[in-house]
Amino acid sequence: MNQVSASAPGKLLLFGDHAVVYGHPCIVTAVDQRITATVRKNGTDVFFLDAPDMGLTAYSKTLADLGKKELPKSVAFIEMLYKRFLEKYPQQEGIVVTTKSQFSSQFGFGSSSAVSVAFAKALTSLYGIEMTNHQLFDLCYQAVIDVQGVGSGFDIAAAIWGGTIYYVSPAKVVDQLGSTGESPLPLAVGYTGIKADTPTLVRMVQAQYQTEPEKIGGIFEQIHQLVDEAKSAIESQDWQRVGELMTANQKLLQTLKVSGVKLDELIRTSVQHGAFGAKLSGAGGGDCMVAIATDRRSEVEEAITTAGGQVMHVKLHAEGVRLENA
Ligand code: MEV
Repeated sequence: MNQVSASAPGKLLLFGDHAVVYGHPCIVTAVDQRITATVRKNGTDVFFLDAPDMGLTAYSKTLADLGKKELPKSVAFIEMLYKRFLEKYPQQEGIVVTTKSQFSSQFGFGSSSAVSVAFAKALTSLYGIEMTNHQLFDLCYQAVIDVQGVGSGFDIAAAIWGGTIYYVSPAKVVDQLGSTGESPLPLAVGYTGIKADTPTLVRMVQAQYQTEPEKIGGIFEQIHQLVDEAKSAIESQDWQRVGELMTANQKLLQTLKVSGVKLDELIRTSVQHGAFGAKLSGAGGGDCMVAIATDRRSEVEEAITTAGGQVMHVKLHAEGVRLENA
């Protein structure tokens, strides 16, 4: 095959943020905003990348130089992944990669993870290499660790498996909640307009954990318990309880000092206008918040907009990585 394309979805973390880095479970849903990667062999010893949606065009490197020198952030995951792939499956000729995104990398939907997974899927099928989802996960997760040094890989798992999953790092547990197809999860999503810096926030929590292991470990334990309860509440579609658990999770995240003024404001107004509960989604500081709202969902969305947030209409429980017709 000359050219292969694959696409992978973004994600929203529903429960268990930060604690998931320390071996506790989280619940994540895939969102149907996809990134597509197209790959073809180019007959030279050079790797070319065109990722206009990530602000990068006509990037190139010889195969021998992969992973060396300063890597632009937008290319780092793809380049490291390709380097790891070549270590395992040596090839003489380079490739041309182009990516296309349905969403901005701003929103915290996980553009790096989605692009890594889409690229890995396209790359392995270009060379006719069959991989299980777990093998694909290991390849992509290695690139995340190479580039960021930290991370639970929940976003990689959401991009690979799709749906809504109960996840324990690194893909030790990947349990689908509900069947595939559109989730009935009544979620309102608000973007703060602030880009979160995930590695910095993860390291900040790590520092707290090192200084006060008992206190912070206790918070992680409490998060673990409510994630387990949320799993049952989602499965039985008890939205009021799911909302209450979100608010409880948010309080624990506030104790970890990872929320922010804008997040708190959007969360507060959502609950005031009829949401059963709300919390930040992801590392905190900015990015998105999520709220559970049934009958009064439009009222909640209006309140988010009035408070200066941007309501994101996304389909949840999206399909995981898939090959596309090039
Ligand atoms: C960031 O989106 C979510 C964190 O739990 C980090 C991670 O799981 O890799 C804070």
